[in-house]
Amino acid sequence: MALDLAILPGDGTGPEVVAEAVKVLQAIAKAENFEYTTKEYDFGGDRYLSTGKIIDDEEIAQLQKHDAILLGAVGHPDVKPGILEKGLLLKMRFAMDQYINLRPVKLYPGVDTPLKDKTPEDINFDVIRENTEDLYCGNGGIMRQGTAQEVATQEMIATRFGAERCLRYAFEYAKRKKESGEGKGMLTLVHKTNVLTYCGDLWFRAFNEIGEADYPDIKRDYNHIDAACMWFVKNPEFYDTIVVPNMFGDIITDLGAMIQGGMGIAAGGNINPDKGGTSMYEPIGGSAPKYTGQNVINPLAAIGALAMLLQNSGQKAAGDRVEAAIKKVTPKLKSLSAGRMGYSTTEVGDLVIDNL
Ligand code: IPM
Ligand code: MG
Repeated sequence: MALDLAILPGDGTGPEVVAEAVKVLQAIAKAENFEYTTKEYDFGGDRYLSTGKIIDDEEIAQLQKHDAILLGAVGHPDVKPGILEKGLLLKMRFAMDQYINLRPVKLYPGVDTPLKDKTPEDINFDVIRENTEDLYCGNGGIMRQGTAQEVATQEMIATRFGAERCLRYAFEYAKRKKESGEGKGMLTLVHKTNVLTYCGDLWFRAFNEIGEADYPDIKRDYNHIDAACMWFVKNPEFYDTIVVPNMFGDIITDLGAMIQGGMGIAAGGNINPDKGGTSMYEPIGGSAPKYTGQNVINPLAAIGALAMLLQNSGQKAAGDRVEAAIKKVTPKLKSLSAGRMGYSTTEVGDLVIDNL
C-alpha cells in the first residue's frame, strides 16, 4: 500500500526545507520502488493571522488518517509567543498522543562540533524525551494578575502510566540498538531526584522496576539533569540511550543539537508507537523567519526528519539510504549554518539526491 503522508510546511523557512525533503522523497521512492501520496496542509502563523484559525479537532482527525506527518516549522514573528506553540505544535503532539520525542544526537562526518577533539564516534547517542506530560501539561494558573500580590503556578505532572510507557519504549530502543550492534546496551535516566522528590521518585522507581523485571541485560544508569549538561559537553561518548521527562528533554536536546553541529542538522520524531498511532517528524530548529525566501537555510534537518519518518513507517531501507546520503553530503558543506553552507538550500537538496 502506498505510504500516505501529511505535509505541514508551516512558517518561515519551513516550506523551503520541506520542499527539499519532498524532493528527496520523490527520488528515494523511485530508487527504492515504493509508492506514496502526499497531502499538504497550511496550518501555521499565516493562516492564523488571516483567519484566526489554528487547528481544530476535525483537522486533527484528518491528520490522523495519514500514515505519518512531515512538519517544517512552527513560529511566526507577528504572532505572540505561546499561541502557535501551544495551539498547534503541542496540540498536535497531545491530541495524537505522540508520547515519544525521539531525538538522535549524531555528529555526521565533516561537521564541526564546538566540542574540541570530539569525533563522530564520540557524539552518537539517542535522547528519548517524554512528550505529553510534565510542565507541558499546562496545569496551573495566575491570580491577582498585575498586582503586587500576583501568584502564578505551573505544575510538574508525572503519571506512572506516562512514565512507564516512555520508559518501556526507551528500554526496547536500547535493547534493539544493542542487538543490532549499534549500542552498548545502556539506558540513562535523566531527572533531578535530589530536588524533585515526587516526580523524580516516580520516574526513578518505575525505571528500576521495569528494568529489573523485564530488561535485566540493559545496564541502568542515572544522571541528574545538571550533571548531564556537564557530561554532554565533557564526555558525550559516555551515552548510548537517554530517557528523560519533557521539560528537561526540551533543554538537553537543544544542547544535543549544538554538539552535533547545530539546528541545521538536528531532526526528531514525535512518535505514537501504538498500533494505528500517527507520528510526526520535524527538523527541531525553528522557523528562522529572517532567512525566509532567500534559499540559504539548511534543509538537511528536514531531510533527516524524512529519513526518520521512512525508517519508522515501514520503509527502513529507504530511510537508511537517505541518512547515508546525508552523511556523504555533510563533508562537502563549508558550514551547516544558513548562508554559510557554500551551497543554496535547493543545491543541498540536489546533493542529497545525487548521493542516494
Ligand atoms: C521543541 C520546541 C517546542 C518544545 C516549543 C516550540 C513548544 O522547543 O520542539 O523542542 O518546547 O517542545
Ligand atoms: Mg525545544
